Amino acid sequence: MNREYFYSIINGEGTLDYEIYLNTQALLSCQKDFQKLCNQDELQFQIVHQSEELWMKLIAYTLLDIDEYIQQEKTHRVMTLFNRVHRIQRTMIQQLEILETMSPKEYQEIRVFLGNGSGQESPGFRTLLKMYQPLWQSYKTYYLDKYGLNLEKIYDVEYSHCNAYMVAEALAEYDELFQKFRYYHIQLIQRTIGMGSQSLKGRAVDLLEGGVRMKLFPEIWEIRNKMTDAWGLQYGKIRNSIASNVKIPSLTNL
Ligand code: HEM
Repeated sequence: MNREYFYSIINGEGTLDYEIYLNTQALLSCQKDFQKLCNQDELQFQIVHQSEELWMKLIAYTLLDIDEYIQQEKTHRVMTLFNRVHRIQRTMIQQLEILETMSPKEYQEIRVFLGNGSGQESPGFRTLLKMYQPLWQSYKTYYLDKYGLNLEKIYDVEYSHCNAYMVAEALAEYDELFQKFRYYHIQLIQRTIGMGSQSLKGRAVDLLEGGVRMKLFPEIWEIRNKMTDAWGLQYGKIRNSIASNVKIPSLTNL
């Protein structure tokens, strides 16, 4: 195939309605020109990162809507939009895998062009890190405090699978997927530069493992510990094996 020909048509003319509405000229100019790519992996490296930024932008906009719906207690809206956010998060996690097709050696060629940049400078990620606390505050104010509820009541003593419980579970899912993104990102780093290395800012890469353990909504996880311990007091925290009580038929009796 003639490379020059395909390079010349891939960005389109930008004149058709589809191209105008989606601003494809600008979008497809956000990557280096084909001639300037340092190797065959650089285009995927740029596109995966750029797509992830776009998904985080959409998550951020959606969380703003969710926050307002929480304040209006419009639970159905909250659930639909959280469903969207969770799907985007799963898409983001899956996309990381694409970069695992890049060899460590070829990544090193790209790395030279990154300056001291890193994902910690990602505008999308930084924005999301500023959003989870206000979101939790809105949930607590409008779904719990306003009705004299707390997590113990909605998960245990007054458990009825109510709206407050549903929204709490949606927050839990968001938190869990956030951790999963960080975990799969670490797997990608392990595969590409190794976890024992240093970032381009000179920081130890394994510091990222602290992020995986970070909980956005610690109360939602803590309540599970409390309930399990409390329930355990009723049926025995440490119990005898059920094997001693069960009569296992011997093969000869079958
Ligand atoms: C080969 C691919 C990749 C490598 C080798 C890599 C490597 C790294 C390293 C070494 C850090 C730590 C930076 C520091 O301490 O200054 C980091 C952080 C980060 N990277 Fe990547 N990364 C890759 C792909 C991606 C992709 C595709 C995304 C998508 C958005 C991403 C998002 C992030 C984020 C959000 C952080 C901050 C994480 C946190 O604070 O928990 N990275 N990355």
